[in-house]
Amino acid sequence: MDKVVSLSKRRGFIFPGSEIYSGLGGIYDLGPLGVELANNIKKAWWKNIVRERDNVVGLDSAILMNRQVWHTSGHVESFADPLVECKNCHTRFRDDTLPKSKNCPICGKKDWTAPRQFNLMFKTHIGPLEEEGTETFLRPETAQGIFVNFGNVIDTMRVKLPFGIAQIGKGFRNEITTGNFLFRVREFEMMELEYFTFPETAEKDFEYWQKERMDWHLSLGLKKESLRFREHEDNERAHYATRSVDIEYNWPFMGWGELEGIANRTDYDLKQHAKMSGKDLSYFDEETKKKIVPYVIEPSIGVGRMMLALIIDAYTEEKAPTAEKGEAETRTVLKLNPTLSPIKVAILPLVKDVKLTKIAREIHKDLRENWETIYDEVGTIGRRYRRQDEIGTPYCVTVDFDSLNDDAVTVRDRDSMKQERIKVDEINNWVMKKLSRP
Ligand code: GLY
Repeated sequence: MDKVVSLSKRRGFIFPGSEIYSGLGGIYDLGPLGVELANNIKKAWWKNIVRERDNVVGLDSAILMNRQVWHTSGHVESFADPLVECKNCHTRFRDDTLPKSKNCPICGKKDWTAPRQFNLMFKTHIGPLEEEGTETFLRPETAQGIFVNFGNVIDTMRVKLPFGIAQIGKGFRNEITTGNFLFRVREFEMMELEYFTFPETAEKDFEYWQKERMDWHLSLGLKKESLRFREHEDNERAHYATRSVDIEYNWPFMGWGELEGIANRTDYDLKQHAKMSGKDLSYFDEETKKKIVPYVIEPSIGVGRMMLALIIDAYTEEKAPTAEKGEAETRTVLKLNPTLSPIKVAILPLVKDVKLTKIAREIHKDLRENWETIYDEVGTIGRRYRRQDEIGTPYCVTVDFDSLNDDAVTVRDRDSMKQERIKVDEINNWVMKKLSRP
């Protein structure tokens, strides 16, 4: 894990938030490569959830919502964790995360305050007056933006049950304790689908989405043995769910833990909003000529957690001959699915020769129209390959002195390190073919 954290910082994936001011607990920034990886994860999710389905549409609702939303949804009342404080050293903890012995992890004493419910929503105010009536919250989930727009979507999109509304956006939770790098943070991006369906088929749809979501993780290359399902116990579920199953990942720092959550939210949210807003949030079923309030199946996952799982899963150290001497050395390689790799192609002139760099720059200009690319002429070719291996670049194009005669270049594959000779005017198509599917 230390190696993953170090690589993430060193290679520009993830930086601690506000680092020059000693950071901010549970807040991280995405660096130049992190933002590319996150964008690719979001693109892959959107493609699988929205673009490739007839019955799912997208949405981008505002982070700030009328405060009544959070009263209606039950978050003001119930979105809380039990907080306790050590009476000796005054450190605060989530009661349900303390070791069974209940000795303070900081000072070792066993003298606690009684647990009190601590609400995880960040408060803010709308407008210039900071008084009770102007108070609202940063959203702790994007789902409520979907529920309050349910009527707008059925009025405008001719959707028929079952159908889904998908959204990617920021969420905020004032966690009592953060930690394990991107695993538990206070600001994060979520990818959420609310799948509206008939109450009678909700259980079947739940099973369907469990399988769909597991297949997606596997299609992106997460190892089968690193993933499993886990059904929530009665006392673990969020206040709105009657059933929850996690897709868990086997994290190196804590063992099995949530990667994605799938919940059956029943008709709870729509009914609550209809009641409190006085608006009709039912669906008219043309076949039975009846109004119904749909049930909701919700698969929900954080972009950061997905990124962390992908980096951990892809991180590999292996013996490899150096380009220069042919001796074995250890190379670090991020074996990311190429569609997720931040950089798809690196273009490298073998040496800094004016004829080679001219060709390499032309290839770079051509390829960057379609792909995230990088041009690098600094250092030995072996070092430059290793640099690209570490950030997961699937292909390196090298321009050498033979290129001056045969109009071809060497393309090196990240995982096999095999090299192929490809005509310069065929590289674009070659990359296109290689990257066409996840
Ligand atoms: N909407 C799912 C969650 O808040 O975890």
